[in-house]
Amino acid sequence: MKILVTGGAGYIGTHTCVELLNAGHEIVVVDNFSNSKLVALERVREITGKLFEVCETDLKDGKTLGRVFSENQIDAVIHFAGLKAVGESVSLPLRYYQNNVAGTLTLCEVMDKFNVRNLVFSSSATVYGQNNQTPFRENLSLNGTNPYGRSKLMIEDILQDLHSSNPEWSIALLRYFNPVGAHRSGKIGEDPNGIPNNLMPYISQVAVGKLNELQVYGDDYETKDGTGIRDYIHVVDLAVGHLKAIEKVILDNGIEAYNLGTGSGYSVMELTQVFENVSGQKIPYKVVKRRAGDVAESYADVSKAKRELNWQAKKGIVEMCIDTWHWQSKNPNGYKCTEEAGAFKN
Ligand code: NAD
Ligand code: WQD
Repeated sequence: MKILVTGGAGYIGTHTCVELLNAGHEIVVVDNFSNSKLVALERVREITGKLFEVCETDLKDGKTLGRVFSENQIDAVIHFAGLKAVGESVSLPLRYYQNNVAGTLTLCEVMDKFNVRNLVFSSSATVYGQNNQTPFRENLSLNGTNPYGRSKLMIEDILQDLHSSNPEWSIALLRYFNPVGAHRSGKIGEDPNGIPNNLMPYISQVAVGKLNELQVYGDDYETKDGTGIRDYIHVVDLAVGHLKAIEKVILDNGIEAYNLGTGSGYSVMELTQVFENVSGQKIPYKVVKRRAGDVAESYADVSKAKRELNWQAKKGIVEMCIDTWHWQSKNPNGYKCTEEAGAFKN
C-alpha cells in the first residue's frame, strides 16, 4: 500500500514510518519541519534501508498537497501533523486552531477530491478531560481543558460529520496516552525544542546532564505516592498500532476511536526510579506545586484496541526507559549536532 504520512518527520511519525517501511508499505511524507528536522528522515532511511518521497510543505497549502495526491496513488493517510504543546496553546490559541483544525480541513478536502477516504488520525487522551474515572474508555464523555485539547476534540467532531456525510470515509481516531521511548537503534527519538514540557524527556535531559533537577509537580494527589499517574506507552508499540489501524480502515468503512496505551499507570516517582536504575544516573528532584490542568491519574482501558485492532502494547516501563536513555545518551543534543556536521551516521 502507499500511505501518505503527514508530520512524518516528528517523534511518533518517524517511528511509524520505520514500521510502515519494514512492513513493505510505500510512504510519502509531508511535513513543514516546524517541529522536526530532515535529518530524522535520513535516520529512517538508515534504519530501514528504504527510500521514500518527502515533500516539505505546510498542510494548509492545498495546492501543493493536491500535487502530492495527483503524483502518487495514495491508499490511505496517517495524519500526525499538528502542534502539541499544551502551555503554548493557551498563549497562542489561534495558531493552534489554525494549524491543527484548518490544516486538517485542507487535508480532508484534498483527500475527498482525490477519492482517498481512509484516514488514521492522531488524537490524544487529553480529550478525556478532567472529570472522568480511570481507566478511560472510548465511550466516556469528552471535554477539552485547553486549546490544544479542544483542537483535537474539534477535529474528532469534524471527522464524525465527514463520515456522516459520506459513509465511504473510513476513519480511526487514535487516542494516544503518554508516548515515550525510542527506536532500539538509538538513531531516532524524541527531540523537544528548548526545555521539555513532558516528564520523560525532562528526566532524560537531567540524566544526561543538560538540566539540573526535575521538578515534580505535586506530591499531594490521591495516588499511591501522591504524584501523578500516567499510562506511558513505548513509541514503537504505538507505531505498530498505526499499522493495525491502517489495516482496519482499509478493510471496513466507519469511524471508531481507540485508546492506545498499555492499560497500566506509573507515578512520577516510579518512572524516575526506573530511569535511575537503567541509566545508573542520579536524578535529583524537588517537589513543587501542582501544574495547572493536570489530572491525578490517567490510564487507558485498552480492551477495544485489542478486540478490534488485534493490537496490544508489548513493551514495559523498563524497556521504555532503556530505549529513551540509549537515544538520549547517544544524541545528547538530539538531532542538532549531526545535522550541523552534515553527517547522518553515528
Ligand atoms: P511532533 O511535533 O514531533 O511531530 C509533528 C510533526 O508535524 C512535526 O514534524 C511538525 O513539523 C509537523 N507539522 C506540524 N504542523 C504542520 C503543518 N501545518 N504542516 C505540515 N507539517 C506540520 O509531535 P509527535 O509527538 O510526533 O505527535 C504527533 C501527533 O500526535 C500530533 O498530532 C500530536 O498532537 C499527537 N499526540 C502526541 C502525543 C505526545 O505526547 N507526543 C500525545 C498524544 C497525541
Ligand atoms: C506526566 C506527569 C506531570 C513534567 C501531556 C499532554 C497530553 C499528551 C501527552 C499530547 C504528570 C508530571 C511532568 C515535569 C512533572 N500530549 N511532570 N514534572 O501532562 O500527562 O500529557 O503529554 O497530546 O495532551 O497534556 O504528560 O509528561 O507532561 O506529565 O512532575 O517536569 O509528570 O505533572 O503527572 P501529560 P507529561
